[in-house]
Amino acid sequence: MKILAVETSCDETSAAVVETERDEVGAKTRILSSVVASQVDLHALYGGVVPELASRRHIEAVIPTVHEALRTAGLDVENPQGLGAVCATSGPGLIGALLVGLNFAKAYAAARNLPFAGVNHLDGHLHAVFLEEDPPAYPFIALLVSGGHTHLYRANAFAKYELLGRTVDDAAGEAFDKVAKLLGLPYPGGVAIDRLSKQGNPTAFRFPRALEHKGLDFSFSGLKTAVLHQVRALGAGVEAAKADVCASMQEAVADVLTKKLLVAMDETGIPRAVVSGGVAANSRLRSLLAERTAGSQRRVFIPRMALCTDNAAMIAYVGAHRILSGVRDPLSLNADPGLALAAPRQA
Ligand code: KG4
Ligand code: ZN
Repeated sequence: MKILAVETSCDETSAAVVETERDEVGAKTRILSSVVASQVDLHALYGGVVPELASRRHIEAVIPTVHEALRTAGLDVENPQGLGAVCATSGPGLIGALLVGLNFAKAYAAARNLPFAGVNHLDGHLHAVFLEEDPPAYPFIALLVSGGHTHLYRANAFAKYELLGRTVDDAAGEAFDKVAKLLGLPYPGGVAIDRLSKQGNPTAFRFPRALEHKGLDFSFSGLKTAVLHQVRALGAGVEAAKADVCASMQEAVADVLTKKLLVAMDETGIPRAVVSGGVAANSRLRSLLAERTAGSQRRVFIPRMALCTDNAAMIAYVGAHRILSGVRDPLSLNADPGLALAAPRQA
């Protein structure tokens, strides 16, 4: 079966077509096309995502993006024979942005009389790695690190998740973006900090690892404040020390994310973990995970960069699974900006 998915939860308009090897749950899923129309240049002018501008750009981009995804997948835009279902992200995300892709997908499904299913964006991130060769078996621990989320889950089976921990304030990506802004680096901050860190010394400054030995929750707002104090203390010397500040800040984030993920793996006795979301593209996080799991039974699965950041292929994977499980969402399905993946673990 071929499935079309549309994802517009934040600042990327994306559409993808995937194909399942057999029309049954758990069959290997292959990407036929994955198109991402990035709005980064638009929002970079403002140093962050402007929700109203994002919605408007999605409206302009959604039809050309879907058409390109269909064409690249070898489907006729006017008559996409072989297309079996349509999916879209229904949350979490920016409400105005979500509505564009979701309403487009629902209308498309209605017009072509195709089954429709909504997909949780976080479920997509969790499963992006299943589009790679050699995906993990359940159960696994999942660390989801993006601009809006820093969540640790235990995934027992498809759609059977427990929330083990989460940030109590800023998300890791948000910390990168805010620190980048105060250093005068371009948006998206994580990418800029990752790049500049390569020229810096990660031990130049010791930034806090909040809640380091306190359970599986995270906190990043103190880190941002600590960097702000350091920048003020450096005064005119900040230009010369910028790379060191970046490398030290990145080290603090990567260190605490890695440590908590390993604690979660040890506590649950589950030797497999998935790391996904935009921050999973961070080179220091990736190298630290590799260093700290080398020579052990533990294995960390990270999707390729293009599947770490927002994309519709991961939404299509989850959508395919849902459709093949018999799920059909009504066309009245609404966008939910605060849609959760799992309730917090009972204390
Ligand atoms: O998953 P994503 O594309 O969108 C959300 O759902 O939020 O994640 C975007 C976030 C941004 O905060 C961006 O700064 C961060 O991921 N990011 C990075 C890197 N690439 C993207 N953070 C650190 N290092 C990177 N290489
Ligand atoms: Zn995302």
